[in-house]
Amino acid sequence: MSGRSTFYVTTPIYYVNDVPHIGHAYATLACDVIARFKRLDGYDVHFLTGTDEHGQKVEKAAAAAGLTPQAFTDKVSQSFRDLIGVMNFSPDGFIRTTEKRHYAACQALWEKLVAAGDIYLGKYAGWYSVRDEAFYADSETEVGTDGKRRAGPVGNEVEWVEEPSYFFKLSAWGDRLLEFYDKNPRFIAPESRRNEVISFVKGGLQDLSVSRTSFSWGIPVPGDPKHIMYVWLDALTNYITECGYPDESNPLWRFWPADLHIIGKDIIRFHCVFWPAFLMAAGVATPKRVFASGWWTTEGQKISKSLGNAIDPVAATAEFGLDPFRYFLLREVPFGNDGDFQRRALIGRLNADLANAYGNLCQRVLSIVAKSCGEKVPPKGTLVEADTALLDRATGLLAVVRAEFDEQAFHRALTSIWEVIADANRYVDAQAPWALAKTDPVRRDTVMWVLAETIRRVTLLVQPFMPDSTAKILDQLAVPAEARTFAAFDRELASGTTLPKPQGVFPRFVEPAAAAS
Ligand code: MSP
Repeated sequence: MSGRSTFYVTTPIYYVNDVPHIGHAYATLACDVIARFKRLDGYDVHFLTGTDEHGQKVEKAAAAAGLTPQAFTDKVSQSFRDLIGVMNFSPDGFIRTTEKRHYAACQALWEKLVAAGDIYLGKYAGWYSVRDEAFYADSETEVGTDGKRRAGPVGNEVEWVEEPSYFFKLSAWGDRLLEFYDKNPRFIAPESRRNEVISFVKGGLQDLSVSRTSFSWGIPVPGDPKHIMYVWLDALTNYITECGYPDESNPLWRFWPADLHIIGKDIIRFHCVFWPAFLMAAGVATPKRVFASGWWTTEGQKISKSLGNAIDPVAATAEFGLDPFRYFLLREVPFGNDGDFQRRALIGRLNADLANAYGNLCQRVLSIVAKSCGEKVPPKGTLVEADTALLDRATGLLAVVRAEFDEQAFHRALTSIWEVIADANRYVDAQAPWALAKTDPVRRDTVMWVLAETIRRVTLLVQPFMPDSTAKILDQLAVPAEARTFAAFDRELASGTTLPKPQGVFPRFVEPAAAAS
């Protein structure tokens, strides 16, 4: 193939019982920004997203909508596909668990687990949460003041289930999992999640029920179709289905093992305990890293259907602009922490970071260049210390941002970039090019070159976060398409290049009420 290093990044696949909201957009946005960054950095990238369409929860939602599960999933899955356009995501693949290739992969994995002696037939008697699609031990449940029994990370209701079931011998995998975590310290992030998983495994693992018989919306167990596979075994397999499993000659198999699964904090146990155990048992390589993001609330409240308070990405991007919304989600909250979506905070950042800091820098510099430097990249004269200091800080950003991306620390990457933007704005004030115009136009040209070049370097790095806006800025600097990757990071602006007319990219946001008064 290309000989470039591969990079495979995945989102959780989304249940189709619900329409997409900010929580879904968030994980996919994080993956999108990483995928774009890695492509710019020369990697052979595969970015996968999709929908999780089986199980009791989806079957119930379909019944409530008066549709067959297939008709229902076709409809809702499409709304997740539509989100790709709304948010300008750049996935290379979209998987649906109702696809034929996925049935084949799940059944092949099942047969491997049987052959390895890790599956046996028994009977499940215990608690089940349909909302979490998860089994819980008695000790993990609690009866509330309303008499209802609940369990799990968000306290969803559980019901008693008794049915014949196949089991995966998870109890036998505890020590091997602990050894695996030990040898792969980067496997679970952030660190607090790693500790959570290790103590869960140390607490002892029960065998896991991996088939259900009380409903039928799922993938049949090979040789015993009364049983359908547990929806999490089915869902997790999507990551290898995409690569062609079990056909290792599939060209996409080069992407396995995945470099990064981005997930939400509620589904860590499935990804960090069950998934590596299934894979090790089946003799398939384990993914390199799982990063669990936190959860968004809105204006201090938990997002819930009954409150109807979920931020709709379609409405938010229409109101605030797509790129500002993308920027805010990754800048406002350290990735991995919970965050509260506040309209006031979004508008504050949009005006301070985008309109005033970055937008204003571009606007000031490009309009002086257009007015006073003949609409061309100005001549680069002799550089003085202040010039090289700014340029070096901008150059140093590539390594800094790369390292932050390796940790999925988007907010820190952005903070570092914005420090250089602030430096550049201070440099404009200190150099006062408008005054130099009269006293030393040659020096003024050099100052403007340094600024334009700084904007180029910074903007190359902002591309993964705000692809449309940065494309406009790079157009205004006449940076050719092939010079927008990090391989061209050191390719300086050529003096004398004709520039198009500058246009503002980040307008200030004015509250509609304030604008009317
Ligand atoms: N189908 C499973 C994932 C299977 S992956 C093999 C699932 N789907 S989900 O649609 O319920 O959730 C998808 C993701 O959205 C999860 O990672 C979950 O954490 C995330 N979020 C749902 N609500 C959220 C917020 N309010 N905030 C941030 N993320 C949230 O779980």
